[in-house]
Amino acid sequence: MFDKLLRKKTTAVPSTLQERVTIAKEKPMPTHVAIIMDGNGRWAKQRKLPRIAGHHEGMKTVRKTTLFANDLGIRVLTLYAFSTENWKRPKREIDFLMKLPGEFLSTYLPELVENNVKVEMIGSSELLPAHTKEAIQKAMEATADNDGMILNFAMNYGSRFEIAEAVKNLAHQLSENLIQLDELTEENVSSAMMTAHLPDPDLLIRTSGEVRLSNFMLWQLAYAELAFTDVLWPDFNEANMLDIIEDYQKRSRRFGSLEGDEIK
Ligand code: FPP
Repeated sequence: MFDKLLRKKTTAVPSTLQERVTIAKEKPMPTHVAIIMDGNGRWAKQRKLPRIAGHHEGMKTVRKTTLFANDLGIRVLTLYAFSTENWKRPKREIDFLMKLPGEFLSTYLPELVENNVKVEMIGSSELLPAHTKEAIQKAMEATADNDGMILNFAMNYGSRFEIAEAVKNLAHQLSENLIQLDELTEENVSSAMMTAHLPDPDLLIRTSGEVRLSNFMLWQLAYAELAFTDVLWPDFNEANMLDIIEDYQKRSRRFGSLEGDEIK
């Protein structure tokens, strides 16, 4: 009898990561998650290692996060891997960062293919070294037919540059009479962005305790939920990601409107 009473009173508290994943998957999952992967330098500094060691460890977190996001059923994962402002860093660090897509993809491409992940890129490939472009191109070709999660690398990406390019493109269409001024809508602008074929991010995560957007997806993040964590990117793990997803699932996304019962 005691046993029966006890069983009745016990509410199951999910303890393992797997149990939490199962519960999270029954609730609305963000379709598109965008991440500003920050804190590699500080992670390395804490260990008296060169900054590039932090970036290398960060690459392993890219793999872990990609597999976990895929498991959760997230459809698009956009990772800010190199910004247009990152060219201001020392040449040695830039050279290292430019080698990471090659190392990442030569190591993990078979695993991405196996998991039906499709690799894509936003940003301007013009200034990227040939070996970086080739590695990304090869991965995009190898995964072109995959219809699972899109792993979208933002490489040499800057939001203001993207917006300026979109404005140029639309101005050209106007001057050629391909569209009329009164036809210029938010949808046209979205279609002129590098993310034209993607839904806007539902959730933006930035690691390392910094609370800013750093020229990342400024147009697309208009209605995203924002999540900032103090965890440095190389330390970011599945439990940290799940904490954020669970928090996201508790939020009420109103897109400027009201809750159903508040609309009279
Ligand atoms: C910001 O941390 C991070 C970057 C500029 C680079 C991010 C790149 C990776 C995580 C690896 C990318 C991997 C692939 C496969 C493309 P920071 O260096 O500014 O850190 P800090 O603020 O602590 O100095």
